Amino acid sequence: MSDNPAIHRAAEIIKKGGIIAFPTETVYGLGADAFNPLAVARIFEVKKRPHFDPLIVHVAHYDDLERLVIEISSNAIKLMERFWPGPLTVVLLKKVDVPDIVTSGLPTIAVRMPRHPMTLSLIGLSGSPIVGPSANPFGYVSPTTADHVRDQLGDQVDFILDGGSCEVGVESTIVSFVEGEPRLLRPGGIPLEEVESVIGMVAVGSINKEKPSAPGMLPKHYAPHTPILLDWSEKDAAKYGNRKVGLLAFHKISPSSKFGQVEVLSEKGDLREAAANLFSAIRRLDDSGLDLILAEPVPEVGLGRAIMDRLRRASSKWE
Ligand code: TXA
Ligand code: MG
Repeated sequence: MSDNPAIHRAAEIIKKGGIIAFPTETVYGLGADAFNPLAVARIFEVKKRPHFDPLIVHVAHYDDLERLVIEISSNAIKLMERFWPGPLTVVLLKKVDVPDIVTSGLPTIAVRMPRHPMTLSLIGLSGSPIVGPSANPFGYVSPTTADHVRDQLGDQVDFILDGGSCEVGVESTIVSFVEGEPRLLRPGGIPLEEVESVIGMVAVGSINKEKPSAPGMLPKHYAPHTPILLDWSEKDAAKYGNRKVGLLAFHKISPSSKFGQVEVLSEKGDLREAAANLFSAIRRLDDSGLDLILAEPVPEVGLGRAIMDRLRRASSKWE
C-alpha cells in the first residue's frame, strides 16, 4: 500500500502544510497536519466551518496518542482495543501542545484510528496525526466517493486521494469520556449496542441541548439543497400537488407509488448496505431537479440509529 505513489504525494503535501482530501472507511475527510495551525485554518475556510466546531484527529498508531491526550480512561481503552482501527471516535482530555484551532479552544480532543489501509499509510508517511472533518461544505451531506469531493471542493484542495467508495458510508460513532460517565455524542458506524456490549450502559446525546458539544448534533445538519421530509404518509400526497417528488426508500417500493425518482437503500433490507448507500442516494436525488424528497424511516437498531439520525438532521418541516 505504501508503494502507491498517490499516497506519497498526498503525504508530501501534508508535510509541506497543504490540505488534501482522503478516503476513510466512513466518509472522505479533509486532511492537514494537526500540528500546523495555518493548514488547519485553511480547512475551516474551505469548509466554511464555524470555528466553534472542533475537528477529529486521526492517528495510525497508539504511540501517536502520546502527543495528543493526557490520560485515557479504562473504558476508553476497552473500546479502542475492540474497535480500532475502525469507525469509533473517542473524546478525551487533550495535551496543551495541540493547537487550539483543532479543538476550538476546548480542553478536550476527539481522536480516531481509521481502518482504511490508504488512510493508515497516509498518516504513517505524513509523520503526524491528521485532522479530518468530512470533506463537504459545512452542513451538507458527507462525501463517500472521490467524485463527491471533486464536485464540491475540487478546486479548493491541493490533492484528492482516491480510495474508492467508502465501505461504511456514515461517519464514526463519537463517545466522550470527559465527564466521568461515557456519553454517545454521535451515533455512527459502530452501533450503540456494540459499544454497550463492551462498556455497559452509555448516556446518549449532548448534556446541554442549547449548546451541543458536537455540532454534528445541531438539529439541521447533513442537509441536501432539496427539502427532505421524514414525517409523511401516502395520504398526505395530495398536499404536494403537482410538484416533482422523489422517494428515498429503505428496501421495497409499494407498486402504487408514483414518484419521479426513487432510490432504494438496500433491496434486501440490510442496514449496513443502507448506510453505505445513504449519502450517495441523497446526492443523486438532490441532483435530480426535484421539489421535494420523501424519505422512509428505517428500523432504529444497529446502523439504523445513525441512518435515522442523519435523516432527521437532513429533513425539513413541510409548510
Ligand atoms: O467518520 C468520521 O468521523 C469522519 C471521517 C473523515 O473520519 N469525520 C467526521 O468529521 O465526521 P466531522 O468534522 O465532520 O465531524 C466531527 C464531529 C463534529 O460534530 C464535532 O463537533 C465533533 O466531532 N467533535 C470534534 N471534537 C470534539 C470534542 N472535543 N468534543 C466534542 N465533539 C467533538
Ligand atoms: Mg461532517
